[in-house]
Amino acid sequence: MTASSSSKDLKEIKDPGEVRESIQFIASNKPVDRANVDCVWLGLYATAAGVELSMAARVADKVTGGAIAKVLKAGDFDAKAGSSLLLRDLKGLPATRLLLVGLGKKEAFLEKQYVEAVRAATKAMQSLKGVKRVASFLTEQSVGTRDGQWRMQAHILAVREATYRFDRFKTKKEGGDDKASTKSKAKPELPSLQEVEMLLPGDMRPTDAPKVITEAQALANGITLTKDLGNLPPNICTPTYLATTAKALARQHRLKVEVLERAAMEKLGMNALLAVSAGSAQPPQFIVLQHNGGNAKDAPLVFVGKGITFDTGGISLKPPADMDEMKYDMSGASTVLGVMKAVAEMGLKRNVVGVIPTCENMPSGTATRPGDIVTTMSGQTVEILNTDAEGRLILCDALTYVEKNFKPAAVVDIATLTGACVIALGGVNTGLFSEDDALAQSLINAGKTMQDPAWRLPLEEDYQEQLKSPFADMANVGGRAAGSVTAACFLWRFAKAYRWAHLDIAGTAWKSGANKGATGRPVGLLVEFAKNGLA
Ligand code: BES
Ligand code: MN
Ligand code: ZN
Repeated sequence: MTASSSSKDLKEIKDPGEVRESIQFIASNKPVDRANVDCVWLGLYATAAGVELSMAARVADKVTGGAIAKVLKAGDFDAKAGSSLLLRDLKGLPATRLLLVGLGKKEAFLEKQYVEAVRAATKAMQSLKGVKRVASFLTEQSVGTRDGQWRMQAHILAVREATYRFDRFKTKKEGGDDKASTKSKAKPELPSLQEVEMLLPGDMRPTDAPKVITEAQALANGITLTKDLGNLPPNICTPTYLATTAKALARQHRLKVEVLERAAMEKLGMNALLAVSAGSAQPPQFIVLQHNGGNAKDAPLVFVGKGITFDTGGISLKPPADMDEMKYDMSGASTVLGVMKAVAEMGLKRNVVGVIPTCENMPSGTATRPGDIVTTMSGQTVEILNTDAEGRLILCDALTYVEKNFKPAAVVDIATLTGACVIALGGVNTGLFSEDDALAQSLINAGKTMQDPAWRLPLEEDYQEQLKSPFADMANVGGRAAGSVTAACFLWRFAKAYRWAHLDIAGTAWKSGANKGATGRPVGLLVEFAKNGLA
């Protein structure tokens, strides 16, 4: 097979890139009656008796001669969670607009509700072309036991999340009249929000803010990269595209990068990875990125991401329904790239390595057959009974590569590995597997802090029996029962030389349906984990 047919497609559809206006964040001590912006955001709680004003809302009410009280008295705002109401031209306020943001019940106002309130306020700005600068007083609201730094970081992440768009392939203006838009080929209009001034939380000094803001922006930039890569169509986001992205990241952030081509992989004996790639016209790539932010002798954290840029199932072909979503089967890889971008951009003082085995899983005359036996880089042999269980095959060689090239503090692999994990945990929790309690707990804690939760599932020897093969050291599938666990057990056989955890993100990496799109998970969890280190 040659690459000619697909490279022609690549020429036809070129990635037009994304035009993004960047949003600046600053922390400020200015009270609401001195916030000279296009809109101020003020929180209000819903109570049994009516509505309770936050501190800033009370000040605003006072200087405007009771403008907010009037609105409440008229019954125009109930402060339900997710609600908002825009008021204009209030005397006594330098801001031209005021957004009342419903926080819901005070007792129920926790992490999730806080993020939701910021998101609702951001979304409320979307149709207001004149709003460039806003001042948010939502950071003054107490959120469970979270401190001001957490509130500021979560605020920034929520605004960035709510303003994320992926419409580079749309040529027409959204909502514009058809005739004009066909001619002009104009892009949908950019959101106009440019600057968000947040009230400095009471427990923070002004000098604490820049670091929090820089780190949150770096994380948001990593998450944006992860989303973009996931959302790109599979005719653009190929293994080569991921390698090019890694090289660009390395140049931009002074990372060390190495990309192994097929010949190098053959030499190393990565036959499991190559077996998955065998049916594809796209060349496989093996990417290694290093951020050396710590001391030279410090053991690195290693993140390994599954990079199947399209998973047809191979000869064990998948059914057609929703197969397009298998473009997201590189979400482990995009997560690793997002994490590397974030840690590099924030200048994290730790050594972090990203390893990405990437290829396509296609059926063809050169594809691997069910029944084929391969010798993995570790020397262990695998009978490939189902070519759709390909993730574990590319990951096992990557895990062995890590063993042979690094002395890691810990290794975490990230993979859209099993449909069974979607059945078990849905889109809420990432599946977490590890024999190492301390490592597992560190990951769970990081997930909690970042609203990017993981749930631990069992990893036990008793499940290994399901992977028995009459002809090789193991089979690559273990039957329908406990499908996520046996997949993890397969990987475990290649991860005995270091502390290791496996994250199954099949349910959490993207959303299906009307709001289809990459979530950027679990970049937040992993960057928080990298910041904190091991428990
Ligand atoms: N990429 C899929 C897993 C997947 C499926 C993620 C659906 C998200 C949604 C993976 O390569 C796969 O096909 N796994 C098989 C394994 C089976 C053949 C043992 C699965 O889950 O069906
Ligand atoms: Mn598959
Ligand atoms: Zn897959």
